[in-house]
Amino acid sequence: MRAAHRLTQRVATRQASAIAPTAGQGVNPAPTHMLPPVSLLVEQPEVGAFNPPKRLLMGPGPGNAHPRVHAAMALPQIGHMDGAFLQMAEEIKEMLRYAWQTKNPFTVPCSGTGSAAWEALCANLTSPGDKHLVLVNGYFGLRHCDMASRYGAEIIKLEKPWGEVFTPEEVDAACAEHKPDMIWVAHAETSTGACQPMDQLGEIARNHDCLLAADTVTSIGGLPVRLDEWGVDAAYAGGQKALSCPPGIAPLTFGDRALTKMDKRTAAGEQVKNWYLDMNMIKQYLVVNDFGVPRVYHHTAPISMAYALREALGILTEEGLEASWSRHRDAAEFFWNELEKIGLECHVDWEHRLPTLTTVKIPEGIDGGKVVTYLRENYNIEIAGGLGALAGKVWRIGLMGYNARRENAALVCAALRDALDAQGYYRAPGLLYPSRQHSRSSFHGSA
Ligand SMILES: Cc1ncc(COP(=O)(O)O)c(C=O)c1O
Repeated sequence: MRAAHRLTQRVATRQASAIAPTAGQGVNPAPTHMLPPVSLLVEQPEVGAFNPPKRLLMGPGPGNAHPRVHAAMALPQIGHMDGAFLQMAEEIKEMLRYAWQTKNPFTVPCSGTGSAAWEALCANLTSPGDKHLVLVNGYFGLRHCDMASRYGAEIIKLEKPWGEVFTPEEVDAACAEHKPDMIWVAHAETSTGACQPMDQLGEIARNHDCLLAADTVTSIGGLPVRLDEWGVDAAYAGGQKALSCPPGIAPLTFGDRALTKMDKRTAAGEQVKNWYLDMNMIKQYLVVNDFGVPRVYHHTAPISMAYALREALGILTEEGLEASWSRHRDAAEFFWNELEKIGLECHVDWEHRLPTLTTVKIPEGIDGGKVVTYLRENYNIEIAGGLGALAGKVWRIGLMGYNARRENAALVCAALRDALDAQGYYRAPGLLYPSRQHSRSSFHGSA
């Protein structure tokens, strides 16, 4: 009975607001047709405005987007076939080529997060039965095995402990043994914080007549990425890391050898087994040839996300690639030195450490999960724990894009110190910041 009364009230309120003048639009004429009160199967939920907490996002991503990027998302909407939008898409493509250091004409923003661009790579460049040599030294290598096998790839895993990287000799030997059609590698393994050296991999791929595909989600914009120099044939990235963009749109690029593979598949009558990510169709919308062939609608482009990516790339371009790489490096080295001062160690050796993502070893006796919660509840700082083989062993701390600054590194270190003290963590008196407890009486862990 009371529910029925509430519903009647809501219908009355809705009808009243339907005829109320809208701010700035003058008085609407009274509607000539009024719907009779109806009973709804699902009642109108009680909702207000969403006010998310303000967090400093220092985990593996997303990082905080640049305020200018948020502002760009509020720009007026235009249509995805509007010339102004298509012109802006061209600017995105040009700036992506700069960020990646590639001349590939096929360099596009892909709707969806980094995984969508990754899936596009798999769907378009895998023929059933193709062999993928997957360099697995972390969680994302395993994801490629899963994703590519869904498109019919035979997976050959080349494995290393999580946090280590591969030598060119190891990759070359695996190619000689297995004769793959594609080598897949994570340039920046976000699950481990390791940076894979890319020198010689392109040459190896050419010598063995296979494609080289690279995941650059956590490297683009934050550390040197030189796709053409490295001989990378296909790559994807994400916006939400060193590009300071929210997640939802992802860069994708195919070089000549990758496009030839696509053409061969088409000529053989093979269909891309993913309609949404079929780049043969998307090409007709986003990549026109010199003769000005009209653009063909494929799916509605995420307009505001494209604004965001354009602004993010604009900010990177204004700063300059080398300056951005240096800023990331500077903040990371500062962070690593600060960590040492509180007795914390990094999981990856200095030479192969990513500046964008650091894995910090959780000291013995410390509850890593509680530290993550402590930082969030007491400092509004987000960091993350380890994934897969590193779960419970490391924290993952990102210094990416807009957040890659010394002040954030210092703040995270101070918050970590406090969180560790809260668990009675013992730091040797010799360290710059010894623990509050100068004896091991309340010892839970060791420096
Ligand atoms: C190395 C790497 N590859 C791929 C992805 C997947 O990207 P997304 O989560 O945007 O789909 C991530 C996400 O963190 C990543 O770190």
